Amino acid sequence: MSSSDHALMPSTLSSTNATAPRREPQFIRIAETRRKPLRFFLDGQEVAALQGDTLLTAVLMQQRRVRESEFSGAPRAGFCLIGACQDCWMRTEDGKRVRACSTLVTEGMRVLTRPAAAIEADTADRNGDAR
Ligand code: FES
Repeated sequence: MSSSDHALMPSTLSSTNATAPRREPQFIRIAETRRKPLRFFLDGQEVAALQGDTLLTAVLMQQRRVRESEFSGAPRAGFCLIGACQDCWMRTEDGKRVRACSTLVTEGMRVLTRPAAAIEADTADRNGDAR
């Protein structure tokens, strides 16, 4: 976490569930709340962040993971927060890889925590769509 990201990290990750992320935050903002707000898209849903947030901070202000492990499917939320461990790689909707802890979130940015097909299936389930 950079010195500009003043957020608290609750002490534990509560879930090893590899299904849709729960929308409870990992981080709670306690300072610098007056920075300019912006909107970005997390798994297709519009959410809020503040200018100067890293992508990792912006995502963990929304939920408890930034991605799922490509090996085990386990939730990952970054580890080092300084660009060294490679635990926070995310994908943009257009397929680019971004390291969440060293990328600033930008207005309108569109990022995925899981493959697009998994997100679409969860959305269909929530909406009661038949497959
Ligand atoms: S959290 Fe370690 S590289 Fe991003």
